[in-house]
Amino acid sequence: MKKRITILSGAGISAESGISTFRDSDGLWENHRIEDVATPEAWHRNPELVLQFYNLRRKQLLEVEPNDAHFAITELQTKFDVQVITQNVDDLHERAGNENVLHLHGELKKVRSTAYPFDVYDLDGWELLIGDTCDSGHQLRPHIVWFGEEVPNLSVAAQMVSESDAVIIVGTSLNVYPAASLYQFAKTDCPIWIIDPKANELSYPESITAINDKAGAALPRLVDSLLKGEIIL
Ligand code: APR
Repeated sequence: MKKRITILSGAGISAESGISTFRDSDGLWENHRIEDVATPEAWHRNPELVLQFYNLRRKQLLEVEPNDAHFAITELQTKFDVQVITQNVDDLHERAGNENVLHLHGELKKVRSTAYPFDVYDLDGWELLIGDTCDSGHQLRPHIVWFGEEVPNLSVAAQMVSESDAVIIVGTSLNVYPAASLYQFAKTDCPIWIIDPKANELSYPESITAINDKAGAALPRLVDSLLKGEIIL
């Protein structure tokens, strides 16, 4: 049976594709405070602003491409059973050919009913507007897990980590819970790597191997070692 490798990814894996991370820019996310665009309160206060913000994020997806880190994961699939658990809402993992992708914080290209949370749709194009409604006539909202909202895929993600033979954390500052605690579900003998150019500024147990480098360089190197059997799981 193939060994299972789980990738826990965050904004940093998409940075080299040109998508800004959250915490590398003075607490602002594309010039907005997170509280103004990514909370249920923001949605109630100013839904137009929230829609516009996510419309621009969605439009940006048309201008960016997956990078070497995303493609390295596709390579890894040739020999391993690979599961991606991402905090990202972009679709770069999928566009690179990553097969098993679980989105913890939602997906930009999907929208859902404000009345029926399980009523989820693929959005045609990039713009969602006030007045766009679900099949039962209720306003649609971005299919995004905002701050203060539950993370519906958390327990399935924890289960996946617990069944892994190796875990690679890449491009997340491990600031946002519960996603940040997922690696703790790994078996005690499961090797864990963290890839981040600022890995030495992050906090995690000493048993985790840090690679202080960008995802686009470090992940292909690590994948190469795994594929060549230089690292044995
Ligand atoms: N390669 C790898 N890592 C990188 C790169 C790169 N090229 N560039 C930046 N990084 C690292 C940063 O050093 C930082 O540690 O990526 C990390 C990004 O951290 P955050 O911006 O905090 O992103 P993330 O951890 O994904 O944020 C989690 O916060 O706003 C919410 O819901 C949103 O899913 C998001 C969550």
